[in-house]
Amino acid sequence: MPVTTPKLKIDAVRGFGGEIVLHGDSYSDAYLHALELQKQQNLTFVHPFDDPDVIAGQGTIAMEILRQHQGPLDAVFVAIGGGGLISGVANYIKAVRPEIKVIGVQMNDSDAMMQSVAAHQRVNLPDVGLFSDGTAVKLVGEETFRIASELVDEYIAVDTDAVCAAIKDVFVDTRSIVEPAGALAVAAIKQYVAEHGRRGETYAAILCGANMNFDRLRFVAERAEVGEEREALFAVTIPEERGSFRRFCELVGELPASDAGEPGATGGALRNVTEFNYRISDAAKAHVFVGLTTSTRGESATIARSFNDHGFDALDLTHDELAKEHLRHLVGGRTGLAHDERLLRFVFPERPGALLKFLSLMRPNWNISLFHYRNQGADYGRILVGLQVPAGDAAAFDAFLENLGYPYVEETANPAYRLFLQA
Ligand SMILES: Cc1ncc(COP(=O)(O)O)c(C=O)c1O
Repeated sequence: MPVTTPKLKIDAVRGFGGEIVLHGDSYSDAYLHALELQKQQNLTFVHPFDDPDVIAGQGTIAMEILRQHQGPLDAVFVAIGGGGLISGVANYIKAVRPEIKVIGVQMNDSDAMMQSVAAHQRVNLPDVGLFSDGTAVKLVGEETFRIASELVDEYIAVDTDAVCAAIKDVFVDTRSIVEPAGALAVAAIKQYVAEHGRRGETYAAILCGANMNFDRLRFVAERAEVGEEREALFAVTIPEERGSFRRFCELVGELPASDAGEPGATGGALRNVTEFNYRISDAAKAHVFVGLTTSTRGESATIARSFNDHGFDALDLTHDELAKEHLRHLVGGRTGLAHDERLLRFVFPERPGALLKFLSLMRPNWNISLFHYRNQGADYGRILVGLQVPAGDAAAFDAFLENLGYPYVEETANPAYRLFLQA
């Protein structure tokens, strides 16, 4: 198996009595190594997809589906790696119920079968994305290519965010976790329905794997929100002047509710701040990284317009890979502008208005020089705040902290703060 194989899968194979050799980054690298070992040690090679018996075994999944669901079925969605699974499924379905469509699903950065079918010959990809490691195959099988070309009706490509959202859908519906490859078909059904505007049809998705390392769930949970367009991200520029931070927070509170215009809208879907990152870096302007909850697709563009209309320059980062993966963690840094800065970690009750309470109790001449918040889905939010408090205001600042009543820890003396945030 490739070195990128989830530990969970390695342990499971070991549990079945297997001896494990990890080699190369993708399935295709491991495959070539396995062929070498076979020759060297005179072993028997069992191909994971390009083998008629393996394909026939995969076909039993289609047999179970058709036995257990005898009502109408319009299409079966199947993830494709090397093509064994879909070859078995398509063979069975086209033999028994040829009117049912078989739709193949691949990651948009690992789509060897889609490219091969389009080119009428097998295409060897130089690289494949590894997020869906179960389907990360650079070259599909000869036999699987022949069968897929003949029997698969359509193909659809999905992206990482859509797969994360699908993992969440499966969890919400069944309380079970699937791995990325296992969620491809669900992501594809959602995309297919949205693109084709289908109603009243019946689809089956094959959830083909659950080798999910627990620590990967953090990434999946984060990206699921963006994948479902439940969260929109923005870079907003606000004037570095007294009260503008508060004006901006008030504007967020006044944005139309996130269910506005939807059937049955109550106007009550409060728009929560999911992330707020800021570090003073310019005497005139502040660039804040903001995340907000949304409920409909395309809402981020409307919100960005609304910010712009109110004089806050806004850049929609909802679909910006650089921002989602890296920049959100890099906002901040050392600055010479934050004189008299005091750094505090607060625990806020996670409810709308908590930040406004903070801002309205503060003395207006205490400038906020740093703010770092990310909603972790808990009842209490953890926030890091830098405030510029003149030495003469120390007593008033203590009174403010007392009055606010939020638990806090002062971090001004923390050596990590000096190393990474103070000039
Ligand atoms: C979880 C999972 N789903 C789907 C597949 C796709 O199978 P195939 O390579 O037969 O297309 C694999 C292959 O290993 C897999 O591990």
